Amino acid sequence: MKANLIDGKALAAAVKKDAAEQVAALQAQGITPCLAVVLVGEDPASQVYVRGKINDCAQCGIQSRSVRLPETTTQAELLAQVQKLAQDPAVHGILVQLPLPPQIDEKAIIEAIPPEKDVDGFSPVNVGRMQIGEPCYLPCTPAGCIRMIESTGTQMAGKHAVVIGRSNIVGKPAAMLLLAKNATVTICHSKTENLQELCASADILVAAVGRAGFVTGEMVKRGAVVIDVGINRGADGKLHGDVDFEAAAEKASWITPVPGGVGPMTRAMLMLNTVEAARRAAGV
Ligand code: GUN
Repeated sequence: MKANLIDGKALAAAVKKDAAEQVAALQAQGITPCLAVVLVGEDPASQVYVRGKINDCAQCGIQSRSVRLPETTTQAELLAQVQKLAQDPAVHGILVQLPLPPQIDEKAIIEAIPPEKDVDGFSPVNVGRMQIGEPCYLPCTPAGCIRMIESTGTQMAGKHAVVIGRSNIVGKPAAMLLLAKNATVTICHSKTENLQELCASADILVAAVGRAGFVTGEMVKRGAVVIDVGINRGADGKLHGDVDFEAAAEKASWITPVPGGVGPMTRAMLMLNTVEAARRAAGV
């Protein structure tokens, strides 16, 4: 392996330390940030993610409220829960873990979260504000990716950044944030022709496909910065990224591992958004 490792765990620890210091300062003013985490159903991956988020809150001194609802929860029941949290002045951030069961309209639930409590940055208001560069809550995974790229000292301005994947949660916002850093951005997806050539011309490659080993060594430009957003559980029970790590690490200058890369950073960025939500609610 020739590439340097972008240590997501270490970066996340630094971000959480920053969040904890901000929490301490707010507590001195009588404000305790509080995040409500809503989980519907028993999806094992979602359970792991939610547990991680609640642990991170504890580490940072952020209060958390865990709301667990059964798989059979109706749209009206979930909406009522979200509305209750929306109206509760002690709750600063609301996170509804996705995906939701099929009987629930995800879009309607996200829209029910007031933009000022939308610490995931998924609501249309926050998405719109991000597009036009207004203050907003940035979605945690893409914001974490940008921090990781910055940590390498890589200049994004003028560089060719290729994002593989166009989801609302990762691909699209990652592309927007790279654009905001003045990168020249290409978004690739399942219909893209010449995918291999496009990726191989990327100075910065962000893989958010959801398929283990999708990015091969041939798709990585020598010296590129490779950010692997994928978390795929293999038949071996282990977690695998979207990138063939061994092959990519022979060519990249910097690369994120899976696990221990983007995942911890995503959760750390959520802590920062929650602290910010508490600060804005208190007007301090
Ligand atoms: N499911 C996968 N990633 C996320 C995320 O960042 N936030 C929420 N709420 N659900 C997710």
